[in-house]
Amino acid sequence: MKKIKVGAVGLGRLGYRHAENLAFKIPNAELIALCDMNQEKLNETVNAWNIPFGYTDFDEMIKNEELEAIVITSPSALHTTQIAKALDAGLHVFSEKPLGTNVEECKIAEEAVERHPELVFMLGFMRRYDPSYAYAREKIKNGEIGKPVLFRGYSQDPESCIDGAIAYCGHSGGQFIDMAVHDIDLACWMLESEPKSIFAIGGCYAHPEFGEHKDGDNVSALMHFKNETMVFLLAGRTAPHGYNVETEIIGTKGTLRIASVPQKNLVEILDEHGVRKECSQDFLERFEDAYVEEVLEFIDCIVNNRKPEVTVYDGTKTTEIAYRCKEAFETNELIRM
Ligand SMILES: NC(=O)c1ccc[n+]([C@@H]2O[C@H](COP(=O)([O-])OP(=O)(O)OC[C@H]3O[C@@H](n4cnc5c(N)ncnc54)[C@H](O)[C@@H]3O)[C@@H](O)[C@H]2O)c1
Repeated sequence: MKKIKVGAVGLGRLGYRHAENLAFKIPNAELIALCDMNQEKLNETVNAWNIPFGYTDFDEMIKNEELEAIVITSPSALHTTQIAKALDAGLHVFSEKPLGTNVEECKIAEEAVERHPELVFMLGFMRRYDPSYAYAREKIKNGEIGKPVLFRGYSQDPESCIDGAIAYCGHSGGQFIDMAVHDIDLACWMLESEPKSIFAIGGCYAHPEFGEHKDGDNVSALMHFKNETMVFLLAGRTAPHGYNVETEIIGTKGTLRIASVPQKNLVEILDEHGVRKECSQDFLERFEDAYVEEVLEFIDCIVNNRKPEVTVYDGTKTTEIAYRCKEAFETNELIRM
């Protein structure tokens, strides 16, 4: 079996998981290099997994001639320059979302992808690789819910993760770009359309720290899509019960709901608190399988010389929409696209 030699940058909350998956769960991949500017974290991981090469400098890592592909899970504002450098070094690239924190950054990645049509580029919109979302999309495509009327998406991080969210918010690009970008991608992908107008509101209901970055701890957007569908999104950081990602698509002939009551598993607990289900506590738990599936797809595209469904242009489009949501939130104006 041909194994693709991969390097991974970023060993943070999600990067560590991607690296772990590459090392142990992706049969056609061989993780040969890791990069993180945190020397201690890097050494620990390289030693624990016997990874041959460790770097604190991304530019040094991509000079390694054994490498064939790079997985980027660095902070969002670094993505597009690292994408361009890796592609120019002849490496296939998987990058985490968002593509960039603004459209100008995204254009750097687009141009690099266009310079290298021979290489695979994929963006990490992992929800598309979650079986429930893929199943629901097929139903919409087959006309099973008639004409879509409304898409409603909630993405709420648990209050228990608030310290990380506050620490990260200065360079995340804001709630729309960092969080709602997943729902924006889902809405465009499932409805096969994009917004013609956007209005957004929100605020700092529990954590004024977000206001220092002209952001809120809970924000929402209402959009009118070009195919007349209504789209409503909520991105929040204060869910008391856990990680709450729920989606509803109402059509003229039926409604689809994905995780309308978010749950850890099928267990129901009957005890002194009543009858209840537990909830996933973070993205790593809820989308555990999707993070593996998306990288399996990336590696399979390299092995079989084909291109993934998620493109660099999806990245630019979602960043642009998220950026316009942020603009609507900041100005309180209706934005026409
Ligand atoms: N798809 C998803 O569901 C999802 C979930 C979480 C995060 N993300 C994305 O993944 C990316 C990383 O997020 P995170 O939560 O893991 O961040 P994090 O802050 O936990 O980790 C970032 C890591 O990158 C390292 N780093 C920073 N600058 C570096 C540099 N110049 N060179 C090498 N290493 C560097 C840091 O030391 C840290 O270990 C972000 O773009 C985020 O949007 C996606």
